[in-house]
Amino acid sequence: MASVTFDHATRTYPGTDRPAVNDLNLHIEDGEFLVLVGPSGCGKSTSLRMLAGLEDVNSGRILIGDRDVTNVQPKDRDIAMVFQNYALYPHMTVAENMGFALKIAGVDKAEIKKRVEEAAKILDLTDYLERKPKALSGGQRQRVAMGRAIVRQPQVFLMDEPLSNLDAKLRVQTRTQIASLQRRLGVTTVYVTHDQTEALTMGDRIAVLKDGYLQQVGTPREMYDTPANVFVAGFIGSPAMNIGTFNVTDDVALIGGSRVPLPSYVLGQAAAAGNKITIGFRPEALDIVPAEDSGAIPVYVNLVEELGSDAFVYGTLATEAGADQVVPQGQEVIVRVNPRAVPEKGSVINVKIRPGQEHIFNAETGERIASA
Ligand SMILES: Nc1ncnc2c1ncn2[C@@H]1O[C@H](COP(=O)(O)OP(=O)(O)OP(=O)(O)O)[C@@H](O)[C@H]1O
Ligand SMILES: [Mg+2]
Repeated sequence: MASVTFDHATRTYPGTDRPAVNDLNLHIEDGEFLVLVGPSGCGKSTSLRMLAGLEDVNSGRILIGDRDVTNVQPKDRDIAMVFQNYALYPHMTVAENMGFALKIAGVDKAEIKKRVEEAAKILDLTDYLERKPKALSGGQRQRVAMGRAIVRQPQVFLMDEPLSNLDAKLRVQTRTQIASLQRRLGVTTVYVTHDQTEALTMGDRIAVLKDGYLQQVGTPREMYDTPANVFVAGFIGSPAMNIGTFNVTDDVALIGGSRVPLPSYVLGQAAAAGNKITIGFRPEALDIVPAEDSGAIPVYVNLVEELGSDAFVYGTLATEAGADQVVPQGQEVIVRVNPRAVPEKGSVINVKIRPGQEHIFNAETGERIASA
């Protein structure tokens, strides 16, 4: 097993003028499960393919353990990949599919059999070894694809959206299986997804990419509690964080006609950014309060989404937009409410941000303003 290091790794595709992955620095610990996440086109697959040796690195280096593999052939990197389209060979049995790479590599028959049987046991496929892929469910096929990677006993697993062909329920089941399997095997894993829920639930750490740039790396808790910028704040968490840019006067932010006091450490940066501040608050960071509470923000209820254990109000800031408000009127606000006492559609509720649960960003740079 081994760690993985991206050291200023950059990839610019021929004929394009902007790197798909730009100066990526990322160290993944031995045995760690790291999730690379970000919107479509942000450079996730390119990063993974550079690590696999399937894509040239134009500048910088890739290391597996202490070994610089930047110019090493893919087959000599001791990695195994699981792709979204993990086409199994239809004419081969499950056992033959799983052992195929080893057969090509000239591993002897008894050893192949042993490794395939071990992997099948781990993946709960023992009863299916003699079946053909067409006689398997989607989830079982996905596990065979995992099995093909496991039997190779690589130093690093690379997975690129391996669950995206599964239906929603199976995806939830399989993501738990993959995460616990990885913990059991202890093999360093880099896992690519565009789904922030998968990232939060599976990763030891999450790395968020946007437009080829790494935005932030951290544990799921760190990413959720202290997003480094507006992009990460809006990307991690579902429903998404409420984020708006507001005018600042007399040390208060004007939110939908309400005056919300600001902590003193942000005032300097607000002044420098033209007396504007960007504030984020998660749906669960809002309390419903009486209208006469100071700082109460009126929200017009457009829709209530009831999920059984939770309920969310989708509303808009109810007060007329004054000249002092930067956000366009009608900005959506999402509020988590007691599922046993949901407000009526068309009514107005008043909310207040729980003290200390606001996220404050520089209105010009979008960077988090630290409280220190
Ligand atoms: N072979 C290529 N030639 C030119 N540009 C490419 C090539 N492959 C990818 N790109 C571009 O590089 C950028 C990053 O692509 P990449 O496939 O890494 O994105 P991704 O994050 O995996 O997206 P998705 O979630 O859609 O799979 C995109 O803008 C894409 O259009
Ligand atoms: Mg991709």
